Amino acid sequence: WRAGDAIHRFPLIDVQGVPLMSTIAEYWKSISEFCPDPSDLLISTYPKAGTTWTQEIVDLLQHNGDAEVCKRAPTAVRIPFLEICAPPPIPSGLDLLKQMKPPRVIKTHLPIQLVPKGFWENKCKVIYMARNAKDNLVSYFHFDRMNFTQPEPGPWDGYIHKFMKGQLGWGSWYDHVKGYWKERKERNILYILYEDMKENPFREIKRIMHYLDLSVSEEIIERIVQLSSFQVMKDNPMANYSYIPKPVFDQSISAFMRKGEVGDWVNHFTLAQSQMFDEDYANQMKDVDIPFRFSI
Ligand code: A3P
Repeated sequence: WRAGDAIHRFPLIDVQGVPLMSTIAEYWKSISEFCPDPSDLLISTYPKAGTTWTQEIVDLLQHNGDAEVCKRAPTAVRIPFLEICAPPPIPSGLDLLKQMKPPRVIKTHLPIQLVPKGFWENKCKVIYMARNAKDNLVSYFHFDRMNFTQPEPGPWDGYIHKFMKGQLGWGSWYDHVKGYWKERKERNILYILYEDMKENPFREIKRIMHYLDLSVSEEIIERIVQLSSFQVMKDNPMANYSYIPKPVFDQSISAFMRKGEVGDWVNHFTLAQSQMFDEDYANQMKDVDIPFRFSI
């Protein structure tokens, strides 16, 4: 990022078939050459699938549920966003990572085929969180309205079609969730679903704890359930992105912590849009059986 560049909605540029924010495309070589330490942990998601929630849970687990320690810095500083290159104060992922010593927790939205190969060579642990397509789409639509580094979402109906065609930032939701799903066993990826986390956070947080080889008491897990609940995170300035200035994230248009629910899509899709979406969904998802739920 060059000082003096104005904040604007960056266009998407094709990187190996995936549309990425132009600043990411510009620095693609250094991003793809990033080499993690084997002790580093990757949290991967399609945008708006529950990344920040997973980041908070992991940070709390690693610090035995210590709420104060987990408020030491904003999410994006505690857990750098690997590929991001956006205007300050959003820190560039690679710059932050250079300043941190492993073991680090790293966030990415890259589809599996674009994840720097060092993560696989070094057998890093990877947590992937996925969210049902319709709620994920609704959340992304509202995010694109308020995030002035992303392309204009345009009208709702057209946005549905862009999502279905994989024309949004980080590409196709369908390819993204399927890519990690197909490789989860081979590459020891912990695959979690937003809906499962919402339904039974205690159970899912325990799964994450086991995957990370941590041992946290049930009492502390209960505390982590509370500390990572939607309302607590919405009120936590170190988790709710309120530190991003209004010209970048205008939370008066739509809050980063917007609703945090399963099934909000019913308030957005018309019956016709839903039927059209489902038909296309069945076709795009026919080669996998990921147990997504559109309501709980
Ligand atoms: P909504 O727009 O549906 O409210 P990401 O962190 O990947 O950008 O995802 C953001 C989405 O996750 C938003 O969804 C946000 O409200 C939701 N979210 C964040 N923290 C959450 C929590 N603790 N519980 C449930 N949902 C949460």
